[in-house]
Amino acid sequence: MQPQPQTEPVPVLEIRGLTQNFGGLRAVSDFNVELGKNQLTGLIGPNGAGKTTVFNLVSGFYQPSEGMIQVGGVPTAELKPHKISALGVARTFQNIRLWNDMSVMDNIRVAQHYRLGYGFFHSAVRSKRYRRREEEITREATELLDIFELKKYADEYPRNLPYGTQRKLEIARALSIHPKLLLLDEPAAGLNSSDIRELIRLIRWIHGQFDVTIWMIEHHMDVMMELCTHIKVIDFGQTIAEGVPDEIRNHPAVITAYLGDDKI
Ligand SMILES: Nc1ncnc2c1ncn2[C@@H]1O[C@H](COP(=O)(O)OP(=O)(O)O)[C@@H](O)[C@H]1O
Ligand SMILES: [Mg+2]
Repeated sequence: MQPQPQTEPVPVLEIRGLTQNFGGLRAVSDFNVELGKNQLTGLIGPNGAGKTTVFNLVSGFYQPSEGMIQVGGVPTAELKPHKISALGVARTFQNIRLWNDMSVMDNIRVAQHYRLGYGFFHSAVRSKRYRRREEEITREATELLDIFELKKYADEYPRNLPYGTQRKLEIARALSIHPKLLLLDEPAAGLNSSDIRELIRLIRWIHGQFDVTIWMIEHHMDVMMELCTHIKVIDFGQTIAEGVPDEIRNHPAVITAYLGDDKI
């Protein structure tokens, strides 16, 4: 048999020379990253460093001032957020964004509708195909709530749930679209220490169970040190360090950037 030619696997996410200006402010400057399949990596930096802006650029909320972003080899410039989500990018938000006037179950169901992209026609005439997919969506949503131990809250409104449970629901909802890339923006924010322990277990479990690359922003360094195999540090939009957790913990530039920040 002929040996197969070795081809480089296409990165799940590739960012080159990403720059974002807001008026006179350069929030992100010449940012580069390459994430492979099933990696679990981190992005840290002091408040205002540009971390969330990077996630907003990847998910298409902003158009980059300069640079290139590719998801699975597909350039995302000009793509609207729902198209980028259809490429397999899901995210959670620093400030939880759940649909509070819908039940927990419907939060998951609606996210899946986006994935399956129903047209008005099918829902209006309630075609057979529509009904079948509806059943499939409900079955899958029930399954997801079950494995996230959220089934007992299925009919509740998200705002009535404990904060830690809302965070968990937001992650479950993100996973319901079967993402290849999951962006978590400060998932431990506002959680107490026992919720944080649970979150660490949850993220580790998701990483083991799902075929997904996870890229997370987090201020709680213990979370990052435990979970991430690689961490990138930015300050004032610029990359100041990157490496394995131990390198980052002791990196002089990181210590300087965080000086006065008691979270590290
Ligand atoms: N839509 C926007 N318009 C103007 N400035 C913004 C906008 N979004 C973020 N910024 C600014 O960009 C910088 C980086 O913000 P952000 O990415 O939210 O930081 P981080 O998530 O690291 O705390 C901050 O100075 C912030 O005020
Ligand atoms: Mg942020």
